[in-house]
Amino acid sequence: MSDLSIQKYTAQTPRSRALYQRARETFPSGVTHDTRHLTPYPVFVERAQGARKWDVDGREYIDYFGGHGALILGHNHPRVTEAVREQLGKGTHYGASHELELEWAEQIIRMVPCADKVRFTASGTEASLLALRVARACKDKPKILRFATNFHGWHDQVAFAASSNFDGTPPRGITEDNIENTVLCEPNDINQVAQALDSRDDIAAAILEPTGASFGRVPTRGEFLRQLRALTRERDVLLIFDEVITGFRVAPGGAQEYYGITPDLALFAKIVAGGFPGGAIAGRADLLDVMTYRDDALWNDKRRVPHQGTFNANPISARAGLTTLEIVAENGIAERANQNGEMLRNALNDAIQKRGLNWLVYGEFSGFHILPLSEDQTYTCSDIYDGKVPHEVLKGGASSEQIHAMRCGLLAEGVDIMPWPGGVISAVHNPADLEQTARAFDRALATYKA
Ligand SMILES: Cc1ncc(COP(=O)(O)O)c(C=O)c1O
Repeated sequence: MSDLSIQKYTAQTPRSRALYQRARETFPSGVTHDTRHLTPYPVFVERAQGARKWDVDGREYIDYFGGHGALILGHNHPRVTEAVREQLGKGTHYGASHELELEWAEQIIRMVPCADKVRFTASGTEASLLALRVARACKDKPKILRFATNFHGWHDQVAFAASSNFDGTPPRGITEDNIENTVLCEPNDINQVAQALDSRDDIAAAILEPTGASFGRVPTRGEFLRQLRALTRERDVLLIFDEVITGFRVAPGGAQEYYGITPDLALFAKIVAGGFPGGAIAGRADLLDVMTYRDDALWNDKRRVPHQGTFNANPISARAGLTTLEIVAENGIAERANQNGEMLRNALNDAIQKRGLNWLVYGEFSGFHILPLSEDQTYTCSDIYDGKVPHEVLKGGASSEQIHAMRCGLLAEGVDIMPWPGGVISAVHNPADLEQTARAFDRALATYKA
């Protein structure tokens, strides 16, 4: 994309620019989440409905941010909104157990194959932190095996080799012991995992995003999951699926249902809380029971895994989450979102071909990834799935200038994507939305070529 894309965007968004000037004084980089960082400035949104949102200048966008993946039902689904409104009248925080949290967890247990028991958290990052803590405690081993490029939130042990520091060095503020307690493997390299598990016996668990890093930006195949499941079971190492994005999206029971591979533990956030803050870990009862109080002071004080959190299973998130999961379980939502994904990927690739570029749009399920390639990079989508494209090209390959310009070009045409670059598609994007997106993409490419 080009300076022209940025000029078009800035000409249309004067109020966002003004708010950004204020925001820069208040927030580092003017944003409240790294992913929302955009040069020259991000769009400020005022309201959203269905598959669309509107900015402070009154411009309309087709939304592929989807609440960072939380909104498979789109913005303000009437049943979810009504349930939350009703709950607001009953109180937002009881500081006590309540029936809704139970119904919410029972719904998860009905839907998710690995879920014997559940513990709620306030976010995916917290769920990831708790899952690793439970795994280390249950196995009495300190180390976690992770795959480069896979994202598991922003707590210390997972904050490198996921969106920065791919060389495995600690980002500033993170201590070396987090690196030392992590065994980092290349994505999809089962031999490296086997070697790691053969050469040491201090690994408690392996964790991965089951469709690959960033919802398949660096894709992982079912065959790798099967090998990893077999290997971890054989070596008595726990397998953890991070289903924060894939949960209730890839299939009602997540990637584990789709692939028929059951991990020992899984973590959820985003859709699980229906567009409100929340997360959960779910898995084998004997593992989650490491958090159980016993009639044994020594156990409670020294052996039990402690876990708190003011907003765990708060009634608003519980109500939104339960209602969303019920809709997902009943209505072919994941299937519809997946079909939308395929339609959109095809339409975007058609636009690329028409403009004579060698870029690729790929992805699976309800995700899409745009891969800008230089003229000498002649990869195909099959190459990506056959593991022939290095993950350095797939994730982190496009320059940040290129990504910012592409996002501005699309915003100027009324489409908001994530900076992967790519996005998530909901079940309420309709064919007209997808066609309009493809036309907008085509115009953005034309600006780029110009
Ligand atoms: C796969 C994955 N795991 C964990 C997280 C962290 O979740 P949260 O942002 O709720 O802390 C994310 C967030 O994008 C994610 O995509």
